[in-house]
Amino acid sequence: MIKLSPRLKAIADLIDENSKVVDIGCDHALLDIFLTQNKNCHCLATDISVSCILKAQDNIKKYDLEKEVKTMITDGLENINYKNYDYIVISGMGFQTIKKILKNKIPNKLIIQSNNNIEKLKYYLFKKYKLVNEKVVLDNNIYYIIMSLEKGKKRYKYDDYIIGLNKDNYEYINYLYNKYIKIYTKLPNKYFLKKINLYRKIKHLKKAITLIKL
Ligand SMILES: C[S@@+](CC[C@H](N)C(=O)[O-])C[C@H]1O[C@@H](n2cnc3c(N)ncnc32)[C@H](O)[C@@H]1O
Repeated sequence: MIKLSPRLKAIADLIDENSKVVDIGCDHALLDIFLTQNKNCHCLATDISVSCILKAQDNIKKYDLEKEVKTMITDGLENINYKNYDYIVISGMGFQTIKKILKNKIPNKLIIQSNNNIEKLKYYLFKKYKLVNEKVVLDNNIYYIIMSLEKGKKRYKYDDYIIGLNKDNYEYINYLYNKYIKIYTKLPNKYFLKKINLYRKIKHLKKAITLIKL
């Protein structure tokens, strides 16, 4: 049985058993192998890179799962009949790539983990999606946010963009608080609009920390 990193395991935990999954940018296809072995899923592991697909195929063969895990070389959701799948997973990429992949395409259920710009990503996704679950994972000293989303509309508050569903996670909120204070302190005053935004965030996070400590 394959063992996943805490980040990939958190992604797998958000996927129901017996699902049909497309893993965009599968790289090694470890997630797909895990989902097949442990959750009886059927996966389509895709990547834009030929060498990544060759690596994925080697791994799939190693675990004797060639029948269960299919592979495809493609850019994002191009040529994928994504409406026939239960989940589309896009993980380990940046916000701009994720945005490009989802341009003009609205799959029903998404599992998204961006390596950067979580707030911008939320402003983008929340126009068309409801946040169903959100996990914060510390993996190799890096915090990762993993979101499970379903097509639909919902009203969101400022707090949903800044903190999200993990309002009791003191370590994570404190980490964000310290990160923004550092950025704020180093940022020259000429960037006053950015500083005002950061100040608002810092104040909000401080209030959230106080509430947790009560
Ligand atoms: C850092 S790896 C992440 C692998 C895996 N998804 C994970 O979370 O561990 C990013 C992968 O995305 C692939 N990729 C980047 N842009 C892509 C695109 N537009 N369509 C498909 N795959 C893409 C890269 O080739 C690479 O294999």
